[in-house]
Amino acid sequence: MQEIIERIERLRRERDAIILAHIYQTGEIQDIADYVGDSLGLACSAAKTQAKVVVLAGVRFMAESVKLLNPEKTVLLPAWGAGCPMADMIDTDMVAELKRGHPGAKVVCYVNSSAAVKAVSDICCTSSNALRILASIPAENEVIFIPDKNLGSYLAEKSGRRIILCDGYCPIHQAFRAREAEQLRAQYPGSLLLAHPECGPELRDLADFIGSTTEIVDYCARSPETSFIIATERGVLHPLARLRPDARLIPVSAHGGTCPNMKMTTLEAIARVLADNEGEVQVPEEYAAPARAALEKMMAVS
Ligand code: 13P
Ligand code: SF4
Repeated sequence: MQEIIERIERLRRERDAIILAHIYQTGEIQDIADYVGDSLGLACSAAKTQAKVVVLAGVRFMAESVKLLNPEKTVLLPAWGAGCPMADMIDTDMVAELKRGHPGAKVVCYVNSSAAVKAVSDICCTSSNALRILASIPAENEVIFIPDKNLGSYLAEKSGRRIILCDGYCPIHQAFRAREAEQLRAQYPGSLLLAHPECGPELRDLADFIGSTTEIVDYCARSPETSFIIATERGVLHPLARLRPDARLIPVSAHGGTCPNMKMTTLEAIARVLADNEGEVQVPEEYAAPARAALEKMMAVS
């Protein structure tokens, strides 16, 4: 492993590259990254970097967002097959149908979506800025939220606005059961339940804190409590184990909770794309400009 890490170090220097990793990546990928964070953090780091090459350790929609925000940079996706099932649950025809049913409504698009879908949306959001993005839309406008019905219903609850939802979801978060969380609370009294807004409403109703992956990590790092039930992908346990070695960290699901797409990135693949430029992400010209506009509107509000 040391040999491959040294190869990545050399290639990173030679190519003037940075490695951005989503917090759901494996521990070994997080450990070599220049930046580890949630979807918004990745977009912000990508927008700020002076590096010529960005390696995105994550899934396709994240790499596309980085490319859209940095059209002049080389963006490499080491895990070429890493998609997001939620992003695949919406397409442009479905958005057109929703718009026909609600003329004049503004379409807020979770970044977990293709560039083509972003291109037919008014503004993007991530899980950490979604409430701010929603607040930026005048109250008189109807809002269509795509594709995550869970994040969408969370926004409706928090804002009191009526939001038109579709039927997308993250299979990982959707599978977390409120009953399992209740059993764990009974087993470990005093534990706080920390949940991602991609979880279903029954589980969210039980949560002590709801936030994006980075927000969950920050909350846990600062909390005076010492036992936490974690309702998001297991990748967050890697930084948390370091930040809170004193705490009991309990994944809400004994067996699930791992996103196979997020675990496709390997050190070997990072070294390979840095060496041969395979896995370079391009966004087709036909929708790059409107997709970029939806992302830039988000960045302006964030
Ligand atoms: P955040 O990074 O915004 O917390 O979203 C989690 C996620 O599911 C990314 O795929
Ligand atoms: Fe998609 Fe869920 Fe995996 Fe995130 S955790 S990439 S939303 S399937």
